[in-house]
Parts: sequence; structure tokens; C-alpha cells
Amino acid sequence: MNAGSLRAKLPPDFVWGVSTSSYQIEGAVKEDGRGPSIWDIYSRQPGRIANGDSGDVACDHYHRYREDIGLMRDLGVRAYRFSVAWPRVMPNGRGDVNEAGLAFYDRLIDALIAAEIEPWLCLYHWDLPQALGDLGGWTNRDCVQWFADYAALIGRRYGDRVKRYATFNEPSVFTLFGFCLGGQPPAVSDHAMLLRAIHHVNLAHGAAVDRLRASVTDVSLGAIHNRQPCRPAAGDPANLPAAEELDAYWNRAFPDPQLRGFYPPLLAGAMAPYQQADDLARICRPVDWFGLNHYSPLYVTADAGNPLGVGLGSAPVNVPRSNMGWPVEPDAFRETLIGVHQRYGLPIYVLENGTASPDEIDASGEVADAPRIDYLRAYNAAMFAAIDAGADVRGYFVWSLLDNFEWGSGYSQRFGLVYVDYPTQRRTPKASFHWYARLIRSCRAPPAPPAGPRQAPAAARRHD
Ligand code: FCB
Repeated sequence: MNAGSLRAKLPPDFVWGVSTSSYQIEGAVKEDGRGPSIWDIYSRQPGRIANGDSGDVACDHYHRYREDIGLMRDLGVRAYRFSVAWPRVMPNGRGDVNEAGLAFYDRLIDALIAAEIEPWLCLYHWDLPQALGDLGGWTNRDCVQWFADYAALIGRRYGDRVKRYATFNEPSVFTLFGFCLGGQPPAVSDHAMLLRAIHHVNLAHGAAVDRLRASVTDVSLGAIHNRQPCRPAAGDPANLPAAEELDAYWNRAFPDPQLRGFYPPLLAGAMAPYQQADDLARICRPVDWFGLNHYSPLYVTADAGNPLGVGLGSAPVNVPRSNMGWPVEPDAFRETLIGVHQRYGLPIYVLENGTASPDEIDASGEVADAPRIDYLRAYNAAMFAAIDAGADVRGYFVWSLLDNFEWGSGYSQRFGLVYVDYPTQRRTPKASFHWYARLIRSCRAPPAPPAGPRQAPAAARRHD
């Protein structure tokens, strides 16, 4: 597809961006009054994270954010999605507010705006204050109020400059891994706790939406859902019901109640004991867009080792995989975008898409990350095909600007457009960075011709 036809398909204000999250890049975990998060504590437990890594230093973004914004400028993105670390601004998750933590995000937001990059603020990217974790975290219904108060604080503080807010990043991922499948804190396997956590996160979403609408004029709100087609792995007929079960939890347990006002039938009965009258109405509050994260489809197995009886299996052998082992199937992205459009009818912003590859700095000082370029090219083509088929996609953000702390994989997996040499914190834009910069430039509308009878000479127009 050439640039001209691409441009014609995209809405004129299509948003190109990059995404990160607080715990994965900030570091400075003990600085300026930040309280501990559940990830600080979890990553210190032996055997939890590859190589015993933690987010203690990460990309040192807390001190290097100006350099990182410079990279975004060079890249040509006009939007940056980041998250606020709740324990940085409220060290205990409730009660006392940490002015020094709030001031960090003031500096970040102001520097973004000065660079003409719109801040997209996500309230929760998994780093729950440990003090709330100690009180049961999301299994405690009081968390709804704590989160709503935190959301109101953020809206009041930044609402004059930040208009785009997401409540939660991938609620299905942190609840399922935290309370059923393992691999994320609190790493328990308990069906009742899982159901409670799902319901309370949904209620917290609805409450935060209301508080942000009340505190921010012209606010534009959504939540960010990771949607992945759940396919039965080959080899066992029991994998089919397992795939259906996981699909209900992974893909529907949050967007269905938030956007349509009901729990999917497969879990509605189990959820009933935890619901109070009007809960669904409190959850289903009007939002402005659907934030979508997508990397790959899932291949599901039946597995008696956890309360849902599901496991994550392998893709068919002929399917290519990323360095994470995730299947690379761009057509699943097209299918997902069309499915979200048909089911929820909201404008869609793709707020994460990208891949891990085994990147290295070569002798000439460059990072030739061909697998990432191939992935991004194929997934963008799939997105354009979905737009062609009628999906209302308004923006696309690459995960991630920088290599960073990839949860249980620590620093062993690199997702960045920019290579980070962790010992020195040196940043090196990879080949994919330059590829994405060219894509953005080619899709941006050429500048309007100057007023008056004469056309601008072709050479003065932006080049594709
Ligand atoms: C998503 C997470 C993000 C990052 C990518 C690779 O599930 O939201 O933080 O880890 O995967």
C-alpha cells in the first residue's frame, strides 16, 4: 500500500503514538517519598523474575524523561501514553498525598506539551500500592473507593493539561495472572478471589469514570483491554470448552459489563454472590473510546491445575513466533479490530502493539531489528485492512518507546523502538524507530498549500 492510499484511508486526525508504563521504566522506587508497590515486593521474592531483576532502576526515566521526550520528538509521535504510579503520588494508596511525586508528573506533562506531544494518562498499570495489597487489594471492595479518590486527585491536579485518561490497563491480565494463573502478584490461585477482584476492578472503573468526568472539562475517557482470540490448542477435544471459558474471562469480563451492562453468561452465575443492587449500572458508565492492546492470539488447553481449568498452550508448529514465544499472526489483529468495532461500536485506539526481538548493538553501533520491522509492517497492514472493512480505528501506539522491565521476564525481553544499554542507560534508536518515523511522516497529511492563486512547488511539500 503506498502512502497516498494509506492517507486516504486514515481519519485526518489519526493519532500515532508510543506507550510505556510507570513501573517498567521509571526506576527511582525509593525517591522523593514514593511508597512501595506490589511489584517492588513481588520482584524481590526469589524465583519470581528472570535473573532476579526488578524495576528498582529500570530505564531511570524518572531522571531522564527529558531525553526520552526528545526521542519521541525525533520519532514524530504526537501522543504519549504513560501511567502514573499510584504509590508515587499516594504512598499508602489512600490518605496522604505526596507532593514531590505529583510534581514529577507535572514536569513530565509540561515537557510533553512543550514538545507538542499529547499526554495520554493511564491511572493503573499494575503497580498497586503495597499498603492496599496488605488490605486485600482488589479483593477488598473498599478498593473501589480508594481508586475513585486517587482518580479524582489525578483529575484535579492534571485536568487543566491532560484530557485523555484511561482507567485500567489490561484488567483481565492482572486479575487472571494475579488470582488464577500465577506469574503476577499476589500470585494466588483462588476462584472466589478472582471473581471478587474482577468485580471490584469493574466497579472501580465506573467510579473513576464518574470522578474524572466531574473534575476534568472536555475529558476523553476509556479503559484499555487486551483482546486476543482464544483458540483451542490442537490435540484434545477438552481444549475447546477451555478456550470458551478463557475467552469469557480474558476478552469479555471487563468490556461487556463496562460497555454493555452485563457479565458474559459463562461467568454471570458465579459473579452473582459478589454483586449488590445497581452494581452493573455503576460499572456501565459512558466512555468515549475503546483502548485496545493486542499482540497475538492465544492457544488454550484444558488444565486441571487452576480454578478455571485452563492453560496457555502452543500455536500450531507452522506459525511464526516472537522472541517471547508469542504467535505472530497479523490476521488475528484484523479479526480483533473488526470484532471490537462490531461488538462495542466505539472509536478504537490501539494503545499497545509491538514485539520482542533479540536485539543487539552491532559493530557499527546500530540495532538492526528486522523482525520488529516485519512485525510492525504486517500488523499495520492488518489494521489498515480492518479500517478498510469499516472498523473505526482512530490511533495506533507502539509498545514500547524503550526497552524496559518486562514483568516476569525482567530485562531479558526487549520491546523498545529504542535500545537501552542498562549499565550505562545509553539510548540507541533501533532500525524500527526509523521505520516507524517514516511511516508516521508518510501518513501525515501534506501541509495545505499557501493561500492565494499559486500552488506550493512540489519540492516544498512534505515528502512521502
Ligand atoms: C502488555 C502489558 C505491557 C507490556 C506488554 C508487552 O500485556 O500491558 O505492560 O508488558 O504486554
